[in-house]
Amino acid sequence: MKKITATIAIILASIFMLHAQGYVPSEENLRNRKEFSEARFGIFIHWGIYSMLGDGEWAMHNLPMTFEEYSHLAAGFYPSRFDAKEWVRLFKEAGAKYMTITSRHHDGFSMFATKASPYNIVDATPFRRDVLKELSEACAEEGLKLNFYYSHLDWSRNDYYPRGNTGRAAGRPEEGDWNSYLRFMNAQLTELLTNYGPIGCIWFDGVWDKGGSHEEIEKTWKLSEQYRMIHSIQPGVLIGNNHHLGVFEGEDMQMFEQDLPGQNTAGHSANSVVSETLPLETCVTMNGNWGYQVRDKAYKSVSDLIRLLVKAASNNANLLLNIGPRPDGTIPEEAAQRLKAMGKWLEKYGETIYGTTGGFMKEQSWGVTTRKDNRLYIHVLNPSETILVPFSGSRLLSAVNFDDGSKVRFTQLPEGIVLTLPERQEGQTDQIITLTFRQLQ
Ligand code: GLC
Repeated sequence: MKKITATIAIILASIFMLHAQGYVPSEENLRNRKEFSEARFGIFIHWGIYSMLGDGEWAMHNLPMTFEEYSHLAAGFYPSRFDAKEWVRLFKEAGAKYMTITSRHHDGFSMFATKASPYNIVDATPFRRDVLKELSEACAEEGLKLNFYYSHLDWSRNDYYPRGNTGRAAGRPEEGDWNSYLRFMNAQLTELLTNYGPIGCIWFDGVWDKGGSHEEIEKTWKLSEQYRMIHSIQPGVLIGNNHHLGVFEGEDMQMFEQDLPGQNTAGHSANSVVSETLPLETCVTMNGNWGYQVRDKAYKSVSDLIRLLVKAASNNANLLLNIGPRPDGTIPEEAAQRLKAMGKWLEKYGETIYGTTGGFMKEQSWGVTTRKDNRLYIHVLNPSETILVPFSGSRLLSAVNFDDGSKVRFTQLPEGIVLTLPERQEGQTDQIITLTFRQLQ
């Protein structure tokens, strides 16, 4: 009897210790975090049956439409021109290292083969193809990492109850079993992590629908339990959550929506970067919408997009640049052209972006910096003749114009390095000077 009690005590103590120890990322996870941070550029895809309405991914809520009406879109969804390989090739040509696609958005429609609900692209549309499967195969073939966006929020299910602040006009009964909803999500996440090969990241969104403090969110959504389950299936997968509240236990990265890290102009992000070591990612729309919006031609220029990418890198963050494909499966030309132009730029200047970290200083009047090994890349975004780089950490060996390798005049002073910039190419977005130091810590 004594022996049994002691054994139980030991078991209980180890369970307690495991719990108290909290989340310890696996070796593989740590490697993936590093690889993810080095990638610096990914493509975000918002695509679902809402694309047919040409009014963004919130169309069901905004119109508003009942679920009954909205769900009829599914039977008309036939993206006849969808070609996974073509997409993946375009993203590679853009210089992106990964793509993150909506596996299921707030409308509740699953864009993959799922046994957890018949409301999915294989069972509810005449298309009957699992586009995530096709993308996972194309990504594996072309060497692009695949990530899944997954909405915690749902406007279609009765068991998403108690309701949150959105999707209220869907026409659902005022009752439902929340635990059944949690089980449904975990069943889907298990499928996503089992049937599509190694996934780079699960990108959550939507817990803000029910509001609440950090503790309340954790309790309602049982996040640590869900995260533990995810990491037990794929320990290497990164978990990120767009809850706008920094980072919760079990998450592997911090995300910023429509803002650079530490800024919160759009009101969707935590104000501060909460960890020095976790990977950061800034997601941004290419025009003003995530999902396909037929009237939205307010595309950012190539120059704006390059500036964003460079600024993200100088903030230690990846840029996750969004496009909304059309209902026929094609990518709007405006988006494709911009992606190709970014790819051209990255082909030439990628060395100053991929695998870099931010370079010692915040944004200056002339621009920003990135660094790698003993090199500091000076990105002059605002045309200038002479600039002061406020860094005096080590002896500067050389300053070189990235474009042609020619020497750039410099003086190293106690307050920093003064550079006399060479003539700028007509219309150049980013004039880059490479500073090589004897040693950089
Ligand atoms: C917001 C929106 C959502 C979009 C996401 C992307 O949370 O609700 O539609 O998918 O931002 O960051």
